[in-house]
Amino acid sequence: MKRTSLAVDFCGVHFPNPFVLAAAPPTDSADMIARGFDAGWGGAVVKTLGLEHVEVNLVSPMMSGLKYEDKNLIGLENIDLISDRDIREVLGEVTDLKKRYPEQVLIVSMMASTEDEWNEIARRVEGAGADMIECSFSCPHGMPERGMGSAVGQDAGLTYERAKWVAEAVDIPVLIKLTPNVTDMRPIAQKVKEAGAAGVTAINTVKGLLGFDLDTFSPMPSVWGKSTEGGFSGPAIKPIALRFVADVARDVGIPVAGVGGVVTWRDAAEFMLAGAGIVQVCTAVMRYGYDIVEELAEGMQMFLDDKGLSSPMDLIGKGLPNLVSHEALSREYKVVASVDKDLCIGCGACVIACRDGGHQAIEFRGNAGASTDDAVTAAATPGPTGGGTAAEGTESVPDSRIPVIDDEKCIGCGFCRTICPVEGCLTMKEREQVG
Ligand SMILES: Cc1cc2nc3c(=O)[nH]c(=O)nc-3n(C[C@H](O)[C@H](O)[C@H](O)COP(=O)(O)O)c2cc1C
Repeated sequence: MKRTSLAVDFCGVHFPNPFVLAAAPPTDSADMIARGFDAGWGGAVVKTLGLEHVEVNLVSPMMSGLKYEDKNLIGLENIDLISDRDIREVLGEVTDLKKRYPEQVLIVSMMASTEDEWNEIARRVEGAGADMIECSFSCPHGMPERGMGSAVGQDAGLTYERAKWVAEAVDIPVLIKLTPNVTDMRPIAQKVKEAGAAGVTAINTVKGLLGFDLDTFSPMPSVWGKSTEGGFSGPAIKPIALRFVADVARDVGIPVAGVGGVVTWRDAAEFMLAGAGIVQVCTAVMRYGYDIVEELAEGMQMFLDDKGLSSPMDLIGKGLPNLVSHEALSREYKVVASVDKDLCIGCGACVIACRDGGHQAIEFRGNAGASTDDAVTAAATPGPTGGGTAAEGTESVPDSRIPVIDDEKCIGCGFCRTICPVEGCLTMKEREQVG
């Protein structure tokens, strides 16, 4: 069977597929990028380079992960800096890599300060044979203190000026990587467009403070007892990234490279529906390795076939007409919670959630008619720190532990569905379909 081509054109550049390694540790050397290309990535953004005189003094450790329940890395906080490698050496590798991998797209990320420096670094990157340039106006730590990184991307005027310097200095397409640490990215992306850059990369990391060690009172990652606010990435930031991609794609109309929290082909497809022309990945590659591109490509291919689409480009922005203002949402459409008793494991999570986070519309069948407190005592649901006596895993759930929904009380908020541990067990049905 003929397989759908995953090739895309983005900012006038042809990519074998839309999956691109983001500027980060996985792209800090030619050997690593080559392994990524061998695995199947369509492109790579070389980790951000500065000119020879820019001092890059790394700290260690520079990363800490956010755990939640049994998940090890729902987010990653880093206080890494731009690459500490010598730009001459890296640009030499860029030239070689381009010869070895003419089909894959090599984008070089860079950061500078003055007009002369931006011009110089852009011309050197172009001279090395890069297909595209990505300017980081977005690193939230370490560089803003020196007038670089997000200090630029948080200011529309500085963004315009610097994007113009670079766009006018070279002939290859220039992407400007913007920061989510702003209220609204659109006016800034508009300046990128007016400056003549080819596109926007959204987003860099979200500025955050991961947490404190409760023994030492040190923030994390702890560098000899001290830390600093850093950049948060990984699955937890996907909604933030999608929002900025959609905002810019819909209201500014400039090509967008989407990045932030992508792990699976589904995430990638969602970014394209939000308007991204290519999709970059960092934290998931660090966590699971370059080979995740196989799942991205296979899944995307099956998805396109399933939808009868002939190219990933057919997805770009296709979700945007359905993204409307709050006031434009229907008030006619009403749903109500519904439990599939054959799937229910009797854990009681929905009973607790509806009591304390909803409208007290769910109780156990065995407690129907009893006080809410009785119903919840019977639920004995595990709390956020574990414990409890949920019936999870038991062969058959006693009828008394099957939740019943009071349709009159249920306002269809949907919260119970979000916490039900069994896929498809608790769903929202249109009111007309119920009963
Ligand atoms: C350890 C680390 C280092 C990074 N270094 C850079 C960098 O040098 N330049 C850059 O533009 N972005 C850098 N990023 C940001 C990523 O390219 C990406 O925008 C961000 O992590 C969000 O994507 P993700 O959720 O897929 O990780 C870095 C991210 C991490 C985790």
